[in-house]
Amino acid sequence: MLGDRFVYVAISTILAFSYYILPQKNEHYPTCPTVEIYRPLNYSENKDILDKIINDETFRNSSLYKMQQAIRINTTSFNDDLPLDVGNNLDKFQHFTKFHNFLKDEFKLVYENLQLNMVNHFGLVYIWEGSNTSMKPLLLMAHQDTSPINLKTLNQWIHEPLSGDYDGKYLYGRGSGDCKNLLIGHLEAIEELIKIGFKPRRTVILSYGFDEEISGFRNENPKFIENIYGPNSMYAIVDEGGVSLMNVGETKLAVVGTAEKGYLDLSISIEKQGGHSSIVDKRTAIGIMGQLIVEIDNNEMPTYFIDKNPTFYQYVCLAENSIDIDTKLKNDIFNSQIDQNANENVRNFINKDKYTAYAIKTSQAIDIINGGEKINALPEYVELMINSRVAVEENITIAYNKFVKDTTNIAERYNLGLNVQMAYSDEIIEVIPATEMGKLTIKPITMLEPSPITPIGDKHWEIFAGSIKHLYEELAYPDSKVVVTPGLGTGNTDTKHYWNLSDHIYRYRPGVLPSVNANSHGVNEYIEFDSHLQIIAFTFEYIQSVDALDD
Ligand SMILES: *[C@@H]1O[C@H](CO)[C@@H](O)[C@H](O)[C@H]1NC(C)=O
Ligand SMILES: *[C@@H]1O[C@H](CO)[C@@H](O)[C@H](O)[C@H]1NC(C)=O
Ligand SMILES: *[C@@H]1O[C@H](CO)[C@@H](O)[C@H](O)[C@H]1NC(C)=O
Ligand SMILES: *[C@@H]1O[C@H](CO)[C@@H](O)[C@H](O)[C@H]1NC(C)=O
Ligand SMILES: *[C@@H]1O[C@H](CO)[C@@H](O)[C@H](O)[C@H]1NC(C)=O
Ligand SMILES: *[C@@H]1O[C@H](CO)[C@@H](O)[C@H](O)[C@H]1NC(C)=O
Ligand SMILES: [Zn+2]
Repeated sequence: MLGDRFVYVAISTILAFSYYILPQKNEHYPTCPTVEIYRPLNYSENKDILDKIINDETFRNSSLYKMQQAIRINTTSFNDDLPLDVGNNLDKFQHFTKFHNFLKDEFKLVYENLQLNMVNHFGLVYIWEGSNTSMKPLLLMAHQDTSPINLKTLNQWIHEPLSGDYDGKYLYGRGSGDCKNLLIGHLEAIEELIKIGFKPRRTVILSYGFDEEISGFRNENPKFIENIYGPNSMYAIVDEGGVSLMNVGETKLAVVGTAEKGYLDLSISIEKQGGHSSIVDKRTAIGIMGQLIVEIDNNEMPTYFIDKNPTFYQYVCLAENSIDIDTKLKNDIFNSQIDQNANENVRNFINKDKYTAYAIKTSQAIDIINGGEKINALPEYVELMINSRVAVEENITIAYNKFVKDTTNIAERYNLGLNVQMAYSDEIIEVIPATEMGKLTIKPITMLEPSPITPIGDKHWEIFAGSIKHLYEELAYPDSKVVVTPGLGTGNTDTKHYWNLSDHIYRYRPGVLPSVNANSHGVNEYIEFDSHLQIIAFTFEYIQSVDALDD
């Protein structure tokens, strides 16, 4: 996953001992989109295969060997990787060819039964053609590349970053959790399906980009797929995601990412006459920028607690299922849609903790400031760069306008000119002419709207969420109880390039640990190996279940 990633709700803070009292139900009483266990029709015929995947030592060993080889091939992406078509740059990506050769050697049945398309040199699109071409294909995603190792942290790695070391329980190495486990897991599941003679009715497509960690600008896989199948042509899209399984008190939550926040980078600059610093206005350009920073920080973004946001259901599900959540909070969650105070209480509660707050509001991070040249010269140009992750309740324009308003306030307060480039416009508008005090300019740099929101409560959700329940409650941890809820990503995955292909995008990968806990992108990235086997079992079951369904 790219960027600062999915940090899902750290809800453990909401637990407290209390009595269990439910408020009166009413028509606005929100309910958890609970599902029943969903199994493929042939579950009992294939029970021994599932047992093998999850419990057999020979299978585990051979699966481990595949993962170790995958980790040991260095497929790092770097932010300064050049475009593919510049000079002999293709050579610099040859490590992907090594990775492809490994896949070809290791997954012979996949290569015999699926059609492989190389897209933009190193992108992989495998098509397992179904017998009924009027059924919408299922699209499974992962990425081949990994994030870089920070050389300064090398001494903190207990196992070499690409060692693929295994200690009997955990597998270590860059890419073990993000997300070679997913890619290899798909291929292993499909090999098992081929071995039992499964022939899909519904086409299955595997799409693996090679630059997810650097925004996926070279990823032409979605365009390739859209050219063949057209827009909105996929049954569903499944990609890596955030919280696989977490304990909140006594409750086990599996959180499926059904939306992602938007992304906005912007620049605000000030130009002011320079000169010798012995003769100076009350505030230099840097001083004014300081005031603007205070203005931005003090005008906080609004918070929301409404059902448009998948996070809402996470809290509702917890309120319904947790026996150890604080009663007052529980009541406030249930009453939040009819009672302003209750709604505000919940928002204030979530907003208290930065690990939960991000989910219910647009963030604003002032990340870069540049300005000043010389100790005895007045700064003539100062630039501020801000990164903002846009709430699903808002959009780029709403978020951006907040910064325009802050900037306008400062322009007026300090008698400055103001130039504004609106979101989605190329034109810079002079709102206030430059004054002798100087002028401010605000412009957007990068914009990505919040993602469409995957519907819940339909048959697609019933199968996806029900398959997760089936995996955990019947296969991996018999006798456990798991609540599957929708949730929100703060970071953006490669799915942003696939929005045109389906309304149903699920960001989820089975396993015991959320990727943030497994040090994705950090030192000592690792997975519990059982989690990898769960990915295989889940994929094996999910493909069969969606195959049996008519569109
Ligand atoms: C289910 O299993 C039976 C018996 O093994 C087989 O004939 C049938 O094709 C299978 N159905 C599917 C959908 O895989
Ligand atoms: C699996 O691998 C371990 C460690 O190499 C080995 O001790 C064990 O005998 C293997 N098990 C099987 C069934 O091959
Ligand atoms: C992976 O390869 C790159 C060059 O492509 C190199 O800079 C980097 O150090 C390698 N990473 C590791 C962990 O060996
Ligand atoms: C953003 O939201 C505002 C207010 O709901 C709406 O008027 C505007 O059309 C939206 N912009 C986009 C690009 O969706
Ligand atoms: C999605 O489709 C729209 C309309 O055809 C097009 O403008 C846009 O570029 C497409 N997006 C992607 C990511 O392909
Ligand atoms: C093919 O799929 C379509 C759409 O689900 C369905 O209506 C049709 O009955 C299927 N045909 C066969 C032969 O299964
Ligand atoms: Zn990833």
